[in-house]
Amino acid sequence: MPQVITNNEDLRQLAMRRAPRAIFDYVDRGSYDETTLRANRADFDAIQLRQRVMIDVDQRSLRTTLVGTDASMPVALAPTGLTGIMHADGEILAARAAQAFGVPFTLSTMSICSIEAVRAAVMQPFWFQFYVMRDRGYAASLVERAKAAQCSALMLTADLQVLGQRHRDLKNGLTVPPRLTLRNLLDIASKPRWALAMLRTPHKSFGNLSDALPAGGKGLSTLSEWIASQFDPTLSWRDVEWVRSLWPGKLIIKGILDPDDARHAVDAGADAIVVSNHGGRQLDGAPSAISVLPRVVDAVGTRTEVLLDSGVRSGQDVLKALALGARGTMIGKAFLYGLGAMGQAGVTTALDLIRKELDVSMALTGTRDVQAVGPQVLWRP
Ligand code: GLV
Repeated sequence: MPQVITNNEDLRQLAMRRAPRAIFDYVDRGSYDETTLRANRADFDAIQLRQRVMIDVDQRSLRTTLVGTDASMPVALAPTGLTGIMHADGEILAARAAQAFGVPFTLSTMSICSIEAVRAAVMQPFWFQFYVMRDRGYAASLVERAKAAQCSALMLTADLQVLGQRHRDLKNGLTVPPRLTLRNLLDIASKPRWALAMLRTPHKSFGNLSDALPAGGKGLSTLSEWIASQFDPTLSWRDVEWVRSLWPGKLIIKGILDPDDARHAVDAGADAIVVSNHGGRQLDGAPSAISVLPRVVDAVGTRTEVLLDSGVRSGQDVLKALALGARGTMIGKAFLYGLGAMGQAGVTTALDLIRKELDVSMALTGTRDVQAVGPQVLWRP
């Protein structure tokens, strides 16, 4: 166990020891052969920053705005499913950490703590991520709940109408609703801190989706079976009009990995898009998000705000994404490792690590203002 937490990998190692294996794997892994998961990291690593010296970098600012929300740095917490199982009350703890840090928090449709429970726990409005269900009345009711909770943006996820297979989840017996299996019991017995907190909380199953769960403990299904039964695979650009009619506020479309789709998203009225391959969890074989970012920015960068997720673990990664034209980034795994390691304090640590890395890397590239970051910070021989 690391004595001093100095980087995100330390949080990951700690989360691996403290959270049950099945939920750690769900967070940590990708789909199929994980080539896209690996490319997300490898392509960030391959980008080189340009060292500049003898520039006054004393007064630095990381402040920006993301989709109309003030942010103390260009990072938001991504919507992640089952977060309240990585740690009891996980969504509430992460939302509180984000609020104190001054960055946006996004609540997933597939969260454990409900929209209302998170709303009651924080003052700062959060963003709500929306999956379109087959039952459109039910889907609309989710948007209504997000409105009632005064969510400040709706994030429509476009890249998960069917689930990319994650081998580990099947092997670990991850089900909907999440249930203890004999196989997981021994593992959980060795994680008493996690188990005690989980015993105490009322938030144990999908808080937003009680009406869409298999009834009475019977009919437990795998994540992919459940998604196949609930999510609408006919979803198309035309449906954005319907979403727009329900939600007049800021609309973010997440899961864009192609310049043509980016244009469609902007034409459909998106206020922002998220360049993303769902953290390497969906189409395995797709390119990394960071490698397609420049082409997406070329296509729509003057017409909309472009955010990026998938592979961001450090402040250097944030700087690289900004240099290639993103206005901001989102982190999923990077904050979930913190959550699994140390609850709210761990999410704060994850954010703090990124803030310090970004700050120092800006200084060493001769940059004072995060909003001035551009291609000039990249090494291009
Ligand atoms: C859900 O969004 C997942 O990636 O599991």
